[in-house]
Amino acid sequence: MKIAIIGSGAREHAIYEKLSQHIDPKQIFALPGNGGISNCVSIDITYPEEVKKYCVKNRVGMVIIGPEEPLANGVVDLFSETSIMVVGPNKNSAQLESSKSFAKKFMKDLGIPTPDYREFTSFEEALPQINALQGNLVLKYDGLAGGKGVYVCSSIEEVEESYAELKKRYGDGFTFIVEKKLKGEELTLIGVMDGETIKLFPPCKDYKRLNDGDSGPNTGGMGAYLPYKISEEVMKKIEDDIVTPTMKGIKDRGLGYKGFLYFGIIITEKGPRLLEYNVRLGDPEAQVILSSMKSNFLTLLESCFNGTLREQNIEFANGYSTALVITSGGYPFSFRTGFEITGLNQISTDISVFHSGTQKKGKNQLLTTAGRIFTLVAKGETLEESVQKVYQAAKKIHFKKIAYRKDIGKL
Ligand code: GLY
Repeated sequence: MKIAIIGSGAREHAIYEKLSQHIDPKQIFALPGNGGISNCVSIDITYPEEVKKYCVKNRVGMVIIGPEEPLANGVVDLFSETSIMVVGPNKNSAQLESSKSFAKKFMKDLGIPTPDYREFTSFEEALPQINALQGNLVLKYDGLAGGKGVYVCSSIEEVEESYAELKKRYGDGFTFIVEKKLKGEELTLIGVMDGETIKLFPPCKDYKRLNDGDSGPNTGGMGAYLPYKISEEVMKKIEDDIVTPTMKGIKDRGLGYKGFLYFGIIITEKGPRLLEYNVRLGDPEAQVILSSMKSNFLTLLESCFNGTLREQNIEFANGYSTALVITSGGYPFSFRTGFEITGLNQISTDISVFHSGTQKKGKNQLLTTAGRIFTLVAKGETLEESVQKVYQAAKKIHFKKIAYRKDIGKL
């Protein structure tokens, strides 16, 4: 069976590597992929019709959608008339990620614990709420923003600055949410589902902020580790209060969801609260999840379509996996590209190097092409060991303006 992976990030490279353990890699294609993936097809994935045309013409049996944008654009709906297995939700369900307002209403309707919020379309309208919270709030752009639509604010000045940034990007009159800021530890819980059953992967810790000490702007994720340990009691509460009602909501609405579902959760003094859904594997969470997964990932995905997901038992390796995201200095704002990358051949073979913003030039050169360049993943019996190994590997990589956080797995 041929498989097409849609996307160009380190998450898609990790999916490619994992599937390569189960089938001939020549049967796996990445659209458009990156400099680390052998079989890349240059297609503009913002045009879902192009993706479908390629897959139908090349008799692809399974399509795995990595990023949120094609899902929000309805790529899955386009395949509904074909027999191709498409891993990802349809456009309607994808609103759980593509509209914060849709997601919050869904949570509220189902009684899922989530921070209180109000929805607005102008700053003036929101001002009384902003003042009432004294700026201690989370400002969320309603639509997709590539990880740059959420601002965690601590003062009214910060809210004003964040709103001004959104206004610069989206003009006047966009919908946004003002959410109460809660205190607690955040974690990511991801599962795969077939519409009836969800199988959860171990919880991960994700580092979204750009700078050490969890400061600076939100990014697409600067690092992660797995497993993030929580008590059985907290896990049960998450399953009972968040996961089970979500599944019920999806079933009752007949959404027919086949794919990954991501729960962004905060553990507060009053218990777990759901901050957000994503309708895909997280990045860099996918890199640690797939590096630690012992089970056959292809069988797991096929089981979403042949009705056997309930029977699947997903196994993970003992110990820890830590992911470190290597970026171009200036990311997530402005950065330069086209720098030569060296040192990859110095990295120990037990480290996984997942590419994102790289491109091959000629036989031997590799150049930077984006803000996110690699995710390195190291395993260890302890968290400390996996962290030490990942930072040792990072030191071997060289390119101009290289940047990464120095405290992943340490706080
Ligand atoms: N790591 C956060 C995300 O994938 O959205």
